[in-house]
Amino acid sequence: MRFIVFLSLFSVLLISSCTQNEENVRVVRKFTHEWKFNLLDSLENDSGYYRPDLDDSKWRVLNLPHDWSIEGTFSPDHPADVGGGALPGGVGWYRKSFSLPENDRNKKVFIDFDGVYMNSEVWINGHYLGKRPYGYISFRYDLTPHLNFGDKENVLAVKVDNSLQPNSRWYSGAGIYRNVWLTTVNPLYVDHWGTFITTPHIEDDRAVVHIQSTVSNDFDQPVVCTVITQVVSPEGEVVAQTESADKELLPNQKITFSDSVEVPHPVLWDLNQPRIYTAITRIWSDGHLMDQYHTKFGIRSFNFDAEKGFFLNGRPVKIKGVCLHHDLGALGAAFNRRAMERQLQIMQKMGVNAIRTSHNPPAPEVLQLCDSMGFIVMDEAFDMWALAKVKYDYSHHWEEWHETDLRDFIRRDRNHPSVMIWSIGNEILEQWDSSGVELTRELAAIVRQLDPTRPITTGNNEPSPRNYLIQSGALDLIGVNYHHEGWTDFPKTFPGQKFIATETNSSLHTRGYYDMPSDSVRVWPNRWDVPFEGGNPGNTCSAYDNCRAPWGSTHADTWRLIKKYDFLSGMFIWTGFDYLGEPTPYQWPSRSSYFGVVDLAGFPKDAYYFYQSEWSKDTVLHLFPHWNWEEGQTVDVWAYYNYADEVELFLNDKSLGSKSKSDEQFHVMWRVSFEPGTLRAVSRKNGQRVAEKIIHTAGQPARIHLTCDREIIHANGEDLAFVTAIVTDKEGVPVPDAENLIKFSLDGEASIVATDNGSQTSLTSFQSHQRKAFHGKCLAIVRAGSKKGSVMVKAVSEGLPEAVARIELQ
Ligand code: GAL
Repeated sequence: MRFIVFLSLFSVLLISSCTQNEENVRVVRKFTHEWKFNLLDSLENDSGYYRPDLDDSKWRVLNLPHDWSIEGTFSPDHPADVGGGALPGGVGWYRKSFSLPENDRNKKVFIDFDGVYMNSEVWINGHYLGKRPYGYISFRYDLTPHLNFGDKENVLAVKVDNSLQPNSRWYSGAGIYRNVWLTTVNPLYVDHWGTFITTPHIEDDRAVVHIQSTVSNDFDQPVVCTVITQVVSPEGEVVAQTESADKELLPNQKITFSDSVEVPHPVLWDLNQPRIYTAITRIWSDGHLMDQYHTKFGIRSFNFDAEKGFFLNGRPVKIKGVCLHHDLGALGAAFNRRAMERQLQIMQKMGVNAIRTSHNPPAPEVLQLCDSMGFIVMDEAFDMWALAKVKYDYSHHWEEWHETDLRDFIRRDRNHPSVMIWSIGNEILEQWDSSGVELTRELAAIVRQLDPTRPITTGNNEPSPRNYLIQSGALDLIGVNYHHEGWTDFPKTFPGQKFIATETNSSLHTRGYYDMPSDSVRVWPNRWDVPFEGGNPGNTCSAYDNCRAPWGSTHADTWRLIKKYDFLSGMFIWTGFDYLGEPTPYQWPSRSSYFGVVDLAGFPKDAYYFYQSEWSKDTVLHLFPHWNWEEGQTVDVWAYYNYADEVELFLNDKSLGSKSKSDEQFHVMWRVSFEPGTLRAVSRKNGQRVAEKIIHTAGQPARIHLTCDREIIHANGEDLAFVTAIVTDKEGVPVPDAENLIKFSLDGEASIVATDNGSQTSLTSFQSHQRKAFHGKCLAIVRAGSKKGSVMVKAVSEGLPEAVARIELQ
């Protein structure tokens, strides 16, 4: 092992002196602007669409990421069915013309796709580059041999085929729905995802950091090079450096350089303090800098224990996780960093510390955000293996593609400090097929070869020793989906094994809708394999914690167990947010799920505050439901609270008594005969007031209250403001059942890209600028333009005065 520790002042100087001649060795350009797009109609002949000389002047011009399905009309007749979000699939073509400067002629040029759903095929200047069936995988093509430089343009053409449906059990989206990058390097360069950094030994005053860098020589002659890697601390100081011996690389040869360095006094990556180091790998040859490659990583240790659960940096941590699908609600699958960041912020505020990327590789930015915000990630590869779950799913491509896809997935994600669990599959049907033994071993061996540092699991809905995946002996963690009734027996059923509840709950809620009595639990549907005929008019589910799927459990029943037993290392709620598709227990016109603790628009349901009171450090007193009922009606009033030993409820200033939660119960309840007026709750600890919550009976809709999640956003053409409209009475009290149609418009350099209200049955297009309030609320999503200035967002509704919110673009 070689290491050099620098004094900080010297290191800062070193970084700045190096950067001057390093600007051009590796150029990574976001390649998302001004693509041409054509969605085929069924009769169209697209046989020449890859040709550079095609006249595409009439094609639509758009910026990526783009999802054409979300622009479509909801219909039960689309082959994706309600399970897939009742939106259209089809075949779409994208083309982009671009030129490259003469002095790039001796460079390598790559195109990097973060994700294309699905069956993408790519051509450059008429040359076929290849096909990637899996819609969630990131991939690269080498454009170099086919490029034009100088005045002559290049044409990239991408065919996306999402026509054979159903191919997914949820809404997939369609198109180039993640970012695309053009990467230009010298022919001696760090390979794609070519570094792997581990921290095998961590003490208070030193950490050993192992750095592996794979270098490719694409010159047509041998070259001798040296690889120097600096480790830069979160504060920007170079704290360690490693330098390889000179090595010769033959043409087309790849060599992996490995070394360890010692970082003094490491600052650990942790949930509250997610500190990130950067390794800067530089390749030098003949005195010239050839490449410079940045790898972000964290120094942290973690382990799972069969008896004591999960430990992060030596400290016990309960994994309080949520499963998230990849759609961003009204934006569909089209990735947007701010929309994702908002989801994660909402989750973090609820007390969530872990994300499961169910059931596929996420956009790379999801992991970057989890790294910088401090989440634990269970990174998942597949929802099926060779046995199909739906007619046209990835099982058809399994044989040919699973190894490549799995390798690419692990290589892409293995440096992220947030990633702590690899899941090689969710509810895989091979659990009941003996082929599962060999397949599990094969996949686990691939993962371990590329990353021996993280445990491997699968989400099992056959949590018994009969399960062939578990029988393989190749898993490090036994992942259990649902089946909470068997959790306490886990140490007997699986002696010595480590547990994680990879998927839990599947409770069902519509924001703002309440079925009483609140203490009787609806189990909907009655059985998973029998069509559901009951339910509520309007396809609603109750937002008390009293409605769930038969395979699931209420929020309270789930958390009670996880909280109680140390060996239950944690849980991932199905799901943090509602998502498009899978509207269990209903069918059409429902088109999105009821499972979320937060609705599709990002508005919390009541269960959100249950978790917040148990999981977060915030002081919580959440009182519900609303206070607009029939005179004399019996209403169950619930409160979630923390940091207090009792809550007293007052109706029109008359005390209805104080109540306290027991250890086993997470809310208090009063059964109240309704009279209009004011409901007030006060939580107290040792007689001292901790918090107060007031709910008034609302009058008729009289105003719109408009607020933005952020008043200043970036004028970068991508940033978003989420604008919430709440219908209130003339006193400003939210009207719980208001359904006023709200029309949004704006003045300034921005655009309204979508609206939503969190209703699972709304068939209004997400692109519409008008949206009915649902239980009193709706949302407009505003995208920044590229010019600085003020934007005024307006909301109008018949009979109500106009409301305005201001956003600054900076
Ligand atoms: C699970 C499955 C999830 C989702 C959920 C709905 O079995 O893993 O993808 O379908 O059920 O309850």
